[in-house]
Amino acid sequence: MSQAELILAFESSCDETSVAVIRNGDEILSNIIATQINSHKRFGGVVPEVASRHHVEQITTVTDMALKEAGVSYEQLDAVAVTYGPGLVGALLIGVTAAKTIAFAHDLPLIPVNHMAGHIYAARFVAPLVYPLLALVVSGGHTELVVMKAAGEFQIIGDTRDDAAGEAYDKIGRVLHIPYPAGKEVDRLAHLGQDTFHFPRAMAASEDLDFSFSGLKSAFINTVHHADQIGETLSREDLAASFQAAVVDVLVEKTLQALHQYDVKQLVVAGGVAANQGLREGLQAALAKTAPTVELLVPPLRLCGDNAAMVGASAHVERARGHFADERLNADPGLNFARA
Ligand code: KG4
Ligand code: ZN
Repeated sequence: MSQAELILAFESSCDETSVAVIRNGDEILSNIIATQINSHKRFGGVVPEVASRHHVEQITTVTDMALKEAGVSYEQLDAVAVTYGPGLVGALLIGVTAAKTIAFAHDLPLIPVNHMAGHIYAARFVAPLVYPLLALVVSGGHTELVVMKAAGEFQIIGDTRDDAAGEAYDKIGRVLHIPYPAGKEVDRLAHLGQDTFHFPRAMAASEDLDFSFSGLKSAFINTVHHADQIGETLSREDLAASFQAAVVDVLVEKTLQALHQYDVKQLVVAGGVAANQGLREGLQAALAKTAPTVELLVPPLRLCGDNAAMVGASAHVERARGHFADERLNADPGLNFARA
């Protein structure tokens, strides 16, 4: 092994083709992200076949760009890492095949990475992780509270019973005629309005740590449809603000409950919805008030969405733990952490 560890990392689980070169697990030499969002927008969501095709078309170019920008050759690499789940099977397979091919051709170890672990480890680019920690993982496909007692150990203590937080944003965005993915625009509108609709906060008072967003989504859609039927125009800003207030209240409340039940040193907020300004502000205020000793770690905006840098950060930890795969590595679309 060379003095500095260099990992070439691949991410292709959904609609982003990304390749990164990461030094020593916490330094980004390159992190190229080719997004396909424009191709999926007109369908209102990600079309799996379209996603796979884009990954095939992009992956070689994106790999070349990542190595070039990092100024690194294949000979200098110590390992190749790849997201092998969860995600769309056809999309995952493109990254897995590319990583396996490069590992085989250059005789490099292959490190399999769980996409959700990647989202959490993105916080390593902000500060070293200190265990035990609690992670709130909020993306288009997941809404989970995860306890990590040590590096590489993940336990789900709370999960969504229906829609993921990002999915709820995208679905109510459709009703407001906001193109997919709607989270960022709803977040922007929310800051221009007031919580005038007081939508339900599902299970915010219950003891368990699970989430539910489908009731909120239905309440939102019914409100808009009812107004349409009677010819009334509602404020988009107030609708967005009211929706966001309900989501943030529930996420913050459940996170505080988890912090009450588990003694942790850090709170990591991860996944695409971690980019949400209302959520960042809400968690910061709540922690300052009720758990000031817990350190809040939120990745910078560009590392909240899907990217390969987070895969490289995760792979650094897996390499240290001796977790490798061989040429039999397959995509695992339903990969998940164990429930506590
Ligand atoms: O982690 P991610 O990039 O992909 C998945 O693994 O799902 O998350 C994408 C999700 C989308 O649902 C998108 O609407 C949401 O993250 N999102 C946001 C914001 N930015 C992205 N949701 C709320 N507020 C935002 N600022
Ligand atoms: Zn993701």
